[in-house]
Formats: sequence, structure tokens, C-alpha cells
Amino acid sequence: MAGLESMFKPSAVAVVGASKKPGKIGYSIIRNLLDSGYQGKIYPINPKDKEIEGLTGYPSVSEVPDQVDLAIVSVPARAACDAAEDCGKAGVKNLVVVTAGFKEIGDEGKELENRLTSICSQYGMNMVGPNCVGVMDTHTPLNASFSGAYPNKGNIAFLSQSGAMSIAILDWSLSVGLGFSKMVSLGNKGSLSEIDFIEEAADDPDTNVIICYIEDITDGERFFKVAKEAVKKKPVVLVKSGVSQAGAQAASSHTGALAGSDLAYDTAFKQCGIIRANSMTELFDLAIAFSNSPLPEGDKVAIVTNSGGPGIITTDHVEGNGLTVARFEDKTSEDLKNNMPPEAGLNNPVDVMGDAKADRFDYALKSVSADPNVHSVINLMCPTAVTEFEKTSQALIDVKQKNPKIAYFAAMLGGESLGDAFNMLSNAGIPTYTFPEPAVNSIRGMVQYSKYKENLLNEEKEVPVQVNKDAVKDIFNNVKQDNRKVLLGSETSAVAEAYGIPAAKISLTTTADEAAAAGDKLGYPVVLKIASPDIMHKTDVGGVKVGLNSAEEVKQGYNEIMDNVKKALPDTPVSGVEVQSMMPKGTELIIGMTKDAQFGPMIAFGMGGIYVNLIKDVSFRLAMGINNKEIREMIQETKCYKLLKGYRGDPPADMEALVDTIYRVACLVRDFSEIKEMDVNPIFAYTDGVSALDVKISLE
Ligand code: ACO
Repeated sequence: MAGLESMFKPSAVAVVGASKKPGKIGYSIIRNLLDSGYQGKIYPINPKDKEIEGLTGYPSVSEVPDQVDLAIVSVPARAACDAAEDCGKAGVKNLVVVTAGFKEIGDEGKELENRLTSICSQYGMNMVGPNCVGVMDTHTPLNASFSGAYPNKGNIAFLSQSGAMSIAILDWSLSVGLGFSKMVSLGNKGSLSEIDFIEEAADDPDTNVIICYIEDITDGERFFKVAKEAVKKKPVVLVKSGVSQAGAQAASSHTGALAGSDLAYDTAFKQCGIIRANSMTELFDLAIAFSNSPLPEGDKVAIVTNSGGPGIITTDHVEGNGLTVARFEDKTSEDLKNNMPPEAGLNNPVDVMGDAKADRFDYALKSVSADPNVHSVINLMCPTAVTEFEKTSQALIDVKQKNPKIAYFAAMLGGESLGDAFNMLSNAGIPTYTFPEPAVNSIRGMVQYSKYKENLLNEEKEVPVQVNKDAVKDIFNNVKQDNRKVLLGSETSAVAEAYGIPAAKISLTTTADEAAAAGDKLGYPVVLKIASPDIMHKTDVGGVKVGLNSAEEVKQGYNEIMDNVKKALPDTPVSGVEVQSMMPKGTELIIGMTKDAQFGPMIAFGMGGIYVNLIKDVSFRLAMGINNKEIREMIQETKCYKLLKGYRGDPPADMEALVDTIYRVACLVRDFSEIKEMDVNPIFAYTDGVSALDVKISLE
């Protein structure tokens, strides 16, 4: 496939299905191309008309006497494949198929879409759509769409899986003066998807921030890789709607039950550094902030206000969002004290008071901006009878210009009276809102992005670990030959051993004497457990004995377990009794794995034991590309991290052994895609080492 440069900067464009008739989509596309000021050649393709809007028409693209880089297809679905075939033969590099009536209408449409897609891949053509609005590039300029509005030139690339959403946003953008570099309506994503355009926009010099509205991701692995690279270059902010397929899948493991429907997306976005917005409003608040402001160099915020209440609300919101209300240097405090009335609030927030004119705001803004502890400034203005809206706004604009490293935001708390000042600030590139919360949310997003970017740029490489894949392969083959999906304890213990996951040893025994011999070999005390893939809750059927200290006790325990289970579940097949070393008590943890349809295995870590689903103290990471740094962060996100660090005088747990074990679990589930779910629960953490007591593995 060709690169996407020729899609956004084509030298010649054809419109297949161009029409003379106003009101038809084929007419709008021609008009939009002309009205956008596109400088290349435009070829209307129509079987009857030789001239449309003053342009020479042709009956087919193959008859155009020029190399066409981009063809926009707007003929009915039944004719779209033939049109694509004609474009392919004519050497067209890019297709935008606006036509509807494909995958979105059911099986028949899906078949047609598959045909269309395969024609495109046969000829190596990029295809956007079908069922889309089109594409735009304001820097070319190019409006290859049937959108009613064409945006201002700007530096935001907007990718949308909803055509209606893109049209609505473009229309709205004109009313707020927002500019875009590119807009792509992704449609059914028959061939190209957000992944291709994120990759393209990451290297586009006209784009500073990439924003997306998406409903699904079909190639999680590629998305993950491409997004990670893009985020190293510029922010990617995204709204994802719809419910993940993983949620629909019934989960039988603890880990599966802990992972909510949307968790894989959330985890993936976090790991590849994408900022996830919760709403379209938040998406555009962030887009505006990223598009206009420098990235704050830290999380410390100064607040300047002419009213106490909004100052307090902003302070709460700053602290509640993981940001810091800046503590001023003595010099700043002194400076403010010498130049503000005695009643003014001199700490952060700086309350210049209700009677403040522009000069007092100006002084406070200059003072806080000169403080090295300040990375962002939020200016709050309430319309009192003496407030000088425009003059104060001009002061803020001037201060911003003199301090290019600080990110400035404004909240104009009011309505109509503040309108002109509001526009003044927005036009000067200061993200301005009616209330302070969006300003704080935007700073949070920007600070978060800085951290993500730094982490990705300093990403720890994965360290290969010694494992015995063949041993695990053999165990899984035996399980499959046995027509089982769930591994026995003795098998999981062998799998753990092969991957260096420290686990209490287990021997499967089929007689009381064998059990006693295993006890002698392991050393006492030992635990006995009934071995059956069909018994999930072994204690409930009298299938567990703990703390057995001699061969005699083991023999007796073996017989009692067998009797208990026979009575409770007479028809359930039993493989014998497992003998396991009894481990001393440590901090009870869980390491688990559940699978997501798009992103593959997800690793869980948290507080373990039987109350794991009740306590829900777990964090998740995709196994894909996980490294030790991420594992450490994952541990730190849980409450049990405090226990592991040494709570109330307890010695700290062996963190490195824990990190290594989580990493080895990730390696195992990545190496064996047939593992459906895995729970290591509990795994005890000690001051020296860790030990898994119960490892459950089920296969696909
Ligand atoms: N080559 C060139 N021209 C052709 C061909 C062909 N093979 N076949 C037909 N034409 C011409 C027709 O003669 C017609 O020209 P005319 O106006 O001079 O007669 C023109 O192409 C269009 O064909 P029509 O049959 O008139 O089709 P119409 O314009 O009614 O519809 C369209 C075509 C718009 C593509 C329609 O099928 C469609 O898909 N509409 C929905 C589009 C849509 O909503 N897309 C999703 C956007 S996302 C969102 O929801 C906002």
C-alpha cells in the first residue's frame, strides 16, 4: 500500500458518482473540493455528464488522462465494487468510499464489503470507509467529503468512527474558533482504521495533537505498538464508547470476574500513554489545551481569583485530581504582600478580591508567574460591577506571552457580560471555560501526558528469563489428550516450576501409602487436597486436610478425604489426593490472568485469598510488552502495597521476587495462547521470596 501522503496531498482527485444536481452527495463533494480551495486537478466521473461545475467529466477513472491519487466513491453500494475495480486498474492510490449499505446492514452488506476490501488490497489501494463522510486536510487544503462545514486551519487531527459525530463537531468548531489539521471519518474501517491515521498524524508536521472518537479496536496488538510510538511524539486523546467483548465472556476465574467489561481498553490506553477522555466535552477541552498551551513542566498550579468561593472550588479540584496547589517562594509571598491590599488572600489561591481592577490581577499574575514553583496558572474572573473584563483579559494575554513555559487557563464565571473577554482569551490561545473544573481537568491531562511520554521515552527493556517451554508444552498436551480443560494441582505446580514461578511442591498420589511416602519426601507438615478437575470448592466437600505432621496422619487423612468426597459427590471422577508442603503464612496476594478479545492476556495483581472479589484490591496490565517498571507501578497502585512495604513495624516483603514472579506469569501466558485463565491465589510474599500455594490454569 502507498503511504497516506498522497491521500491528504493528492495532485489529482476523481469523484466517482459526481453529479450536476444540487442536493446530491456527488454534487456536494465536487462543491466541497472546489470551495476548500483545493489546488490540484478535479475529475468528475459520471456516465452521462461531460461537464460538472465547470470541470471536465469522464465516464470512468480509467479514461482520465492523468494519474489520479485519490478517488472519492459516491455511487450506490451495488456499483461500488466495479468503481473500485476501475480505480484499481487506473492505478489510483487512495479510495474514500462514502457509500453506505455494507457491513452495517448485515450479512449481505458484509459480503459486499469483503469484496470491496479485497479489490483494494489486490490493487494495493488505501481505502477509507465505506459508510463514511470523507477526509479533510486544511493545510493542503482539501475537503474530500460531503460534510456541511469545513473547519478552520489548525493543528488538531480528528479521527472519528462516527460520521455524524464528525459532521456535528466540525459545525460546532466554527462557532468556537477551533482549528483542525485533518479530519478523517473512519466509517466501517473496511481497510484503514484509526491505527493507520494515528501513525500518519504522529509524523504530520501540521498536527500537534491527535484526537479520536472510536467504538472498537480490531487489532489490539498493532494499535498498542503504533499508539506507543505516536505518544512519544505528540498527545493522543481519545473517547471510546461501546462495551468490550471481554465483558460479554463469562469468567470463571477470580481474575476474570475482577476485570470489568471496559478494563482492557482502559489498561491498554494507560500502558500506551493515551489520554482517555470521558466525554466529548472533555475530549475537546483537552484538544484545545494541547493545541494552544505548552506542556506544564510539573503539577503545581497557581490560582488567581477575584472571589473566594470559586477559588476554594478550584483548590479542591486541583488537589482531588492529583495536582498540587503551588506553595509560593518567600519572595513571591513578600512581593504580593507589598502590593496587594491587606485584606487580599496572599497564599495560593491569590484572592485579589471583588474590587480588583485589571492592575491588581496583572500584578498577581506576574508575581505567581515569576515563581519557579508554578507550572500552570488558572485565572478566575467573576463579573462584579467594577471588574474590568477586557483589560484584565489583556493583562493575562500579555503575561502568557512573556512566560511561554507556563500553561495559562481562564474561567470566566458568568454569562453574556463576559462574552467579549471570553472570546478575546480564546482567540489568544488561552483555554477559557465558564467554570474552573475543565481547566483543572485539562491540566491533569497534560501533566499525565508528560509523565506517559517520559515513561515511554525511558522505557525499560524486557529482560529475557530462563524458562522451560517444552516441559509446559508436554503438560498441556497430556491435558488435551485427557480431554480436560482444567489442570490438576500437580500439573500446575510443574508448569510453575518450568517457568520459575516459586510454588509449594505438589505430588499427586493414588494410595494412602503413596501419600505418606510423598509426605516423607516433602518434609512435614503437609497439606492434602482432593485432586479432581471437577471439584472447584474442595473444602466444602471435606477434600482438604492441613497441618499433617507424620506419615500416619497423612495415611489417615488420605482415607478420610476419599470417604468424604465419595459421600458428597459420589459420581464425580477423582484422580487421587495431592500432597503439598505446608508453607508458613506470608502476605496473601493474587496474581492472575484473564483474556481480552482485542488485547490478549491481562495480568492482575492484588490482595489475595478467599475475599479477593469482595475486597477488589487489584490492578491490571496487559501482558503485551510488560516490563518490570510497569509491574512495580502495578504493585504500587494497590492498597496491599502498604502491607508489602512493611506495615506497622512488619519487615518489608521481597519486592524483587514478587516483580520477577509477576513477570514470569506474563511470559507464560504470552508464550501459551491456549491458556484461557489463570489464578495464582494465594501466593504468599515473605521477607525472602514468595511462594504460590494454589495455581489454577484452564485451557481454551
Ligand atoms: N460511475 C460513475 N457514476 C455513476 C456510476 C458509476 N459506476 N453509477 C452511477 N453513477 C452516477 C449516477 O448516474 C448519479 O449521477 P446523476 O446524479 O448525474 O444521475 C450519481 O452517480 C449517483 O448515483 P445515484 O444512483 O443517483 O445515487 P445517489 O446519489 O442517490 O446515492 C450514495 C449514492 C449517496 C452513495 C448512496 O448510495 C449512499 O450510500 N447514501 C448514504 C451515504 C451515507 O450516509 N454515508 C455514511 C456517512 S456517515 C453518516 O452517517 C453521516
